[in-house]
Order: sequence, then structure tokens, then C-alpha cells
Amino acid sequence: MNVALIGAQWGDEGKGKMVDYLAAEAQIIVRFSGGANAGHTIVRGNEQFALHLIPSGILYPDKTVILGTGMAIDPEAMFAELEMLESRGIDWHGRVLVSDRAHIVLPRYRDIDKTMEAARRKPIGTTGRGIGVTYSMKASRDGVRLADLYDEDRLANLEPGDVEFIRAWVDRLAPLAIDLTDYLYHHRHSYILFEGAQGALLDLDAGTYPYVSSGMSGAAGAAAQGGVGPRSLDRVLGVFKAYSTRVGNGPFPTEFDTDSQSALCQFIRDTGREYGVTTGRPRRCGYLDLVALRYACLANSIDSLILTHLDVYDTLDSFEACVAYRVRGKILEYFPAAIRDLEDAEPVLRSFRGWKRSIADVKEYDQLPLEAKDYISFIEEYTGTAIDLVSIGYERERTIVRKSPWIRY
Ligand code: IMP
Repeated sequence: MNVALIGAQWGDEGKGKMVDYLAAEAQIIVRFSGGANAGHTIVRGNEQFALHLIPSGILYPDKTVILGTGMAIDPEAMFAELEMLESRGIDWHGRVLVSDRAHIVLPRYRDIDKTMEAARRKPIGTTGRGIGVTYSMKASRDGVRLADLYDEDRLANLEPGDVEFIRAWVDRLAPLAIDLTDYLYHHRHSYILFEGAQGALLDLDAGTYPYVSSGMSGAAGAAAQGGVGPRSLDRVLGVFKAYSTRVGNGPFPTEFDTDSQSALCQFIRDTGREYGVTTGRPRRCGYLDLVALRYACLANSIDSLILTHLDVYDTLDSFEACVAYRVRGKILEYFPAAIRDLEDAEPVLRSFRGWKRSIADVKEYDQLPLEAKDYISFIEEYTGTAIDLVSIGYERERTIVRKSPWIRY
């Protein structure tokens, strides 16, 4: 069974925790896009792990994790992460594999990324990890894949420093390479979790272009870049937070006002630990944007949603969510492509009552306060999509399951 899990907002929705949680029932976890620009946090007991490249299922001793075809792989960052895991008692040998069609991030790409960003009058706010440059090189047919590492003809167009870099890593990288499609065909009876990076609104095509990442962050990427065909995906899950955040630049219609809502913004940022895992940047915060979430559901065939960070609202008397945009006097109920429309969009907000108690120890959906269930029902109705799991804390056990994604209903 093939289940894809993607972020349904601008990244940082809690995918790391949810992949870690759902991986308990999977045998194989395939991360299909992005690179060391991503940051996934996983809490296990008293320990916290920050992963950037390695799929979140790695913490289980018996899972195979695969870095898929759509990933941009920086060997220095990947082996540093593997060494970190090993130093903390996670044995990865023999169960970390890499698609031989995945592209390599060369060190000079990071410099080009930073130079291009510095030259932009309106910067994107990239993480500077060379990911955009790697995908540009791929599109211009100048990239290097794992499959090319021993092919002198393929290396002929590279600069001498690139070749030196590749030679330094090839012996460690090559043993991890697999033909992903063939591998997954031979494991077609396994439970496979396809892990997305970034989020639907940072997807190169469907996101808020040009303020996006450069890979396929949407569900289509799970197939195209995860090694299987589109009809092989049995279920698509979208993870979203009770509110919204965004790192880097770009339109954000529900962003809290820096003056009138600065205390609320700081409260959410601190309670939800909204600081970048990769860059440490404070995340921009705002109320949930249902217009954007519905768009993410439609653009990605999301079968069911996973709501995270609901506990962050525990102490609020009331809160709001955006149900439409007012753009230069006109009401829009869809997510427009034009950046100007999104920048001019004033959110039309609906108010919700808070529950004013801790939900940290809730085990069953029915034990949630009525006000929390009202919020959930409204989101389901608005998006036309069921919320099957609710996360109420960082730990694995703080997860309420209404319907398991691994069961065919
Ligand atoms: P890049 O992917 O480093 O080029 O960054 C492009 C945009 O995507 C920037 O606004 C980044 O902050 C954002 N971005 C990239 N990866 C992530 C992520 O994992 N979470 C949230 N935002 C991200």
C-alpha cells in the first residue's frame, strides 16, 4: 500500500512528527523531493532529532529509508547527518538508500544560490543550500546524478573542482544507490510511506511563484519523483497546522499585523516553537487560511487531512480563520495565482471560541472539547476533506487517530 504525505501549507506543518508516527506501520519510507533546505523535527522520549535530508522513518531500527529521485542531495550534509545519527545510537547501515536518478548538490551551487539571491531586488528568502541551483542545472541538462558518478563522459562538462568533489564522495555514495522504480516494484506488497518536503504552497508549479521552493512539494511529486506511477498512490494525506506560518518572503494573506497583533504572534511563535530548523529564522505567523488549504486539497487530491499544533490554541479565549479574501474590494473564494492579488488580499475572518483547557492528554477524539471539535468540523466542511488525525503535542503518543491511513475502507 502506498501512502503519500505532504505539507498542505508553506512547510513546517509537523510532517516530521507525522511521518515518524505513521512510519511505525510502514516498511519503507521514501522522501521524494527537496534537499537540505528542509528541516524535520522529531521528538523521541527526551531526545530531539533535527533531520534535513534523511527520511523521518530512520529512527525505527527496522525501516528502510530512501532518498528519492526528486531529491537534491548534498553529500556533505547527508553524511554529516548520518554521522550525527550514528553518534546517537541509530544504526543506519544497510537501510539508507538513494535513487540513482537523484541529483547531487555541488558546493559551488550553494555559492551561486547566495549570489543569485543577493542580486534579486526582491529576494525569495532562500535557505542558501543550493537547492534551486541544483534543480536549474537539472532542467538545463547540466546536473549530475548518482548514476553519473563513474561516467567520465557525464563528468566532462563539469569544472575541475566539481570532479574533485565527486571523487571525494563517490566511494561512500555509490554503495547507497539503487534503481528506485525497480526496487519499489520488488517491494510492491510492502507498506510504503512517501514523505514530502516543504509544502503545497511552496511547490514550484502550484505554489506562490516565484516565492516558492524549486522542487515538487505536492502529491504529484510522490509519484513522479518517488519512483512509482501516479495511479500507484493509494492515499494522499495533507498535514496542516491549526494556524499558518511561512519562512522567507512572499505573500501571506493571514499574517498577523506587526503592530496590533504582535503579542499574539509572539505567543504563537513561542508556544508552537516557530523558529526554522534549518536556518533558525523566526517564522512569520498568522491565522489558518482556509482558502489556501482548500486549494491545497484540490491541487493535490488530498484524501484526508492531519491537523497539528491544535494544543497551541489551548489558552486562547477565541481565534479566527480566513474564509475568503477581499482583493481591492472584490471577494475571492479561490487562491489566485497573481502575487499582487495575494499581497492585496485582506482576509475575511470567521471567529471561533477557544476551549481554555489543556488538551495535551486527550486520547480519543470524543474527549476533545466541544469548541475544538467545532473548529475541526468547520474545516472539514469548508475544505470538503476529512481530518483523520489530530496531533496535540510533539511526542508520538500525543496523536489522536480517527481513521488509520493504512486501512483500506
Ligand atoms: P529554497 O528552497 O532554499 O530555495 O528556499 C525557497 C523558499 O522556500 C524560501 O522562502 C524558504 O524559506 C522556503 N523553504 C524551503 N524549504 C523549506 C522548508 O522545509 N520549510 C519551510 N520553508 C521552506
